[in-house]
Amino acid sequence: VEHRPVLVSFVSELFRPALARGGVFVDATLGQGGHARAVLEAEARAVVVGIDRDPVALDEARANLAGYGSRARLTHGNFEELASLLERLGIEKVRGVLFDLGVSSPQLDNPARGFGYRATGPLDMRMDPTQPVSALQVVNEYGQRELEGVIRRFGEERFARRIARAIVGARPIETTDRLADVVREAFPAPARRTGGHPARRTFQALRIEVNGELDALGSGLHDALRVLEPGGRVAVISYHSLEDRITKQFFAREARGCDCPPDVPVCACDARAELRVLTRRPVRPAPDEIAANPRARAAKLRAAERLEVA
Ligand SMILES: C[S@@+](CC[C@H](N)C(=O)[O-])C[C@H]1O[C@@H](n2cnc3c(N)ncnc32)[C@H](O)[C@@H]1O
Repeated sequence: VEHRPVLVSFVSELFRPALARGGVFVDATLGQGGHARAVLEAEARAVVVGIDRDPVALDEARANLAGYGSRARLTHGNFEELASLLERLGIEKVRGVLFDLGVSSPQLDNPARGFGYRATGPLDMRMDPTQPVSALQVVNEYGQRELEGVIRRFGEERFARRIARAIVGARPIETTDRLADVVREAFPAPARRTGGHPARRTFQALRIEVNGELDALGSGLHDALRVLEPGGRVAVISYHSLEDRITKQFFAREARGCDCPPDVPVCACDARAELRVLTRRPVRPAPDEIAANPRARAAKLRAAERLEVA
């Protein structure tokens, strides 16, 4: 399965001014290397550091980008530790960082990885198979309240309580299709037929929990800001509202600077604006891109530029 990079020409245009004089571009979610390749092609003087926590994706990207030699430096890791991964490569400052979040088509479409609710596979969902906790543990070992919390918070699922109760009652659950059935049956009958597959939100929630996705995004953004040179740019492509909200709030906070409550007469917080937001509204793929690549449908891109230090 090929993964089609989302908003790829927009991404290469976006980073063009930042990379015009060369420098390091970090693709924090390398996948099969679609965006990385576009940047390598567009910016002959740029070096691309590619990070992925999935060793399978990394191997594929290695093969796909082999022709770029030392301009493509690919490394296994979690972007949660972006700054220390870069430090290990001897890199302190960069001109661009891209996060294209979530899972890729090859991960989603391989039943053995356990991400999909339409095929039968083991309950896994780990992006990095060396992680200790898989969906099997979350589904079979979490307490009912804990499970309910995960499904409500990370799936924004209004039937979280019924679903958690049904899962606990059906244990052990070992496969994705069995879980999908249990979730479907937990839905009140009339709700089963509206709003897509009933298991979609629950699977999203479990995936976020297994991979610690929201925490990773928070610290990845924090690190990106630390390593970005003035004039450097950061972009995030997200696929659901939780990720988009974290990105939007992070950019807004760093663009605002002062964090004092409104009733404080004189600023006492010392915080300075670090970013300029480049996308007042998130950028969405055009209808023809969505028609050609249905997975682009939910995509939202937000971008910001590092300000000169005063
Ligand atoms: C949507 S795909 C990226 C596709 C890529 N832009 C391309 O054009 O081929 C997301 C990738 O990011 C990886 N990933 C997700 N979260 C990560 C994290 N916290 N650290 C490192 N890689 C991560 C996944 O393993 C997956 O391969």
